[in-house]
Amino acid sequence: MSLEQLLETIPRGAPDEALAREVNFEALPRHIAIIMDGNGRWAAQRHLPRVEGHRAGIESVRDVVETSARLGIGALTLYAFSVENWKRPVTEVTALMALLKRYLRLELDAINRNNIRFQVIGRTDELSADVLQELAAGQEATAGNSGMTFNIALNYGGRAEIVDAARRAIDAGIASADLDEQKFSQLLYTAGQPDPDLLIRTSGEMRVSNFLLWQIAYAEIWVTDTLWPDFRRKHLLEAVLAYQKRDRRYGGIKPTPALTR
Ligand code: IPE
Ligand code: IPE
Ligand code: MG
Repeated sequence: MSLEQLLETIPRGAPDEALAREVNFEALPRHIAIIMDGNGRWAAQRHLPRVEGHRAGIESVRDVVETSARLGIGALTLYAFSVENWKRPVTEVTALMALLKRYLRLELDAINRNNIRFQVIGRTDELSADVLQELAAGQEATAGNSGMTFNIALNYGGRAEIVDAARRAIDAGIASADLDEQKFSQLLYTAGQPDPDLLIRTSGEMRVSNFLLWQIAYAEIWVTDTLWPDFRRKHLLEAVLAYQKRDRRYGGIKPTPALTR
């Protein structure tokens, strides 16, 4: 979208306004992917149960989804639950799924108002029927929207995604000689979307934790110590501004502007 649309939601004179005015709208990341981490630590700092950190993280999701849509980002992918997260206590997993359902129910109107297309990526068939129903309703209700694609990665694993793509190639009878990187990427959950230009991780951890392994081949990585429940528009704008200062080379020797390949 535009600076004007972004400024509509920022109080005059707020520090975010100066950040928003610095953004180069001609060189935005086409796709931003975020590893939302640190909910448990946020709760522990306040002597609260971990689930309170997840609950507080919903406000960050709201803020980031709306800011990204107003900025004019083409796709936003949020890592909500990994295939490894089933290792957590069942009470935490249940609470996370319940929060997800509640978020969707409460936010669907706002998602539609912002012309956002909601989509789930991951091994969704392993999720429970009630969660699946809520996700399907969200996807159906927003399928006709033409603005930002908002992917939620749920029961998602990068390696699982690559295995699923390989299985699809075999099932479709694609001859090995016909398979190349371009075709393979169209078998991934993110088919049709650009690869993330910017990968954000909160809470200071320097790892990718099985997220979008194929797609982040040349993503610019930005890590902040801010815990996810404290992450707001300001942090997203800081990440975009940092991204716009990077020299992307793709293995070449000449620095190229952020958007050209
Ligand atoms: C991220 O926060 C949310 C999920 C992985 C679902 P964590 O729950 O991992 O929080 P920390 O890393 O323990 O602080
Ligand atoms: C990554 O966070 C998964 C999500 C954000 C959903 P984790 O907290 O599960 O990752 P690790 O265990 O620190 O690598
Ligand atoms: Mg974590």
